[in-house]
This record gives sequence, C-alpha cells and structure tokens, in this order.
Amino acid sequence: MMNIDILTLFPNMFDGFLNESIIKRAIDKKAVTINVVNFRKYSKLNNSQVDDTPYGGGSGMVLMCEPIVDAIEDLKDDDTTVILLTPQGLPYKQKIAHELKTKKHLILVCGHYEGFDERIRSFVDMEISIGDYVLTGGEIPAMAVCDSVIRLLDGVIKEDSYLEDSFTENLLDYPTYTKPYDFRGMKVPDVLISGNHQKIDEYRKEESLKRTQERRPDLLK
Ligand code: ADE
Repeated sequence: MMNIDILTLFPNMFDGFLNESIIKRAIDKKAVTINVVNFRKYSKLNNSQVDDTPYGGGSGMVLMCEPIVDAIEDLKDDDTTVILLTPQGLPYKQKIAHELKTKKHLILVCGHYEGFDERIRSFVDMEISIGDYVLTGGEIPAMAVCDSVIRLLDGVIKEDSYLEDSFTENLLDYPTYTKPYDFRGMKVPDVLISGNHQKIDEYRKEESLKRTQERRPDLLK
C-alpha cells in the first residue's frame, strides 16, 4: 500500500478530493492512505506563526524553514520521497507519475503565499511544477500529482484503461464514441461497428498518431 502525507496550511482544500469518486474508492480499498497534515501545528512561535517578511525587503510573506522541516523530519522514514510543489520544479509528465507509483511513501509539501525560504530546498528529494502558470499554492498541484499516481496503483482502475491513456506511448488518445450512432447527422466511423478488431486497432493507432501530429508535434520528437 502506498502512503502519502500532504503538508499544507489549508487541509480543508482536500475534503472534496478525498471524498469522491476514484480517489475515495482507492482509499476505501486500501490501495493508498492519505494523511493531510497542517504544518502550522509544528510551529513553535506565538500564534503558531509559519511565515515572515523576506530578508532584503519585497512584498508578501515567506514560509519559514522550521515548521516545514520539522514536519518532514517527523513524518519521514528511510523509504520516503519528499516532493516540493513549485512553479520552478521539474515539469510534471505521465512518465513521472509512473515513476512515483513505485514509491512506498511520498511527502508532498504545498507552499502558499509569495514563496518559501530557499533553505527548505535542501530537505526535499524532488521539485515538481504542474505547468507554466502560477497558482495560489501547491494544493491543487499536490492533488494533480496524487490523482495521476493513485489511478495507476494496482486494483484502482482496470489496467487496460491506463495502458491506452494519452501520453503512455507519447501519443494522444484516439477518438471514442458511444450511443447514439447518429448524433445530429454526425455518424460513428464505420470501422468501429465493423466488428473487425484488427481493423479497429489499426484505425485507433492511426488516429492517435494523426491527432498527436496535429495537436502536439512536440511529443513525437
Ligand atoms: N505552486 C504554484 N503554482 C504551481 C505550479 N504551477 N506547479 C506546482 N506548484 C505550484
């Protein structure tokens, strides 16, 4: 079973995420345990302070080292991967999700506000960005990483559902259809109702390639 600790100042943001659909089912089935920890409780300062103004001046508040590092050290064992969510991190890809699914214990550290003390970086194994845009905190990125990893864990969804995912072979998914056969004059491609599975496989492979060439030629390089 995988074990994930999420360090955040806003644990309630995870309520919906943990209590619906496939993630909830994965938790119920004991494929994963997720422990959301408010690292404010590790503060030793008055009013549980966790941030302060930046040295050198500038706007906003900066998360301090001590509460986050104390939380990491409290939760860590000798088989833990500590991940910091930051726009400056490694661009997140499906390949990384497949690597992370082999880990036993993840600690995800969510920053908030203007940033965190640079020295926190010495206490993490990996930094991840979910894209070139700036969110108000690392919580949504942490959910994105958890979601993409948990769906790959054994028994969470059928394996064929993810072997054919977009990006699995650096290709986008092929188009899919369901009933009705004719929707406002738009018909399902004949090959899909032909019953010829070899033809269907070929068609899907071709469409995947065509779609990737058109939309994401960068993936084919
Ligand atoms: N924190 C704020 N924006 C982020 C992003 N794009 N990826 C990861 N962490 C973030």
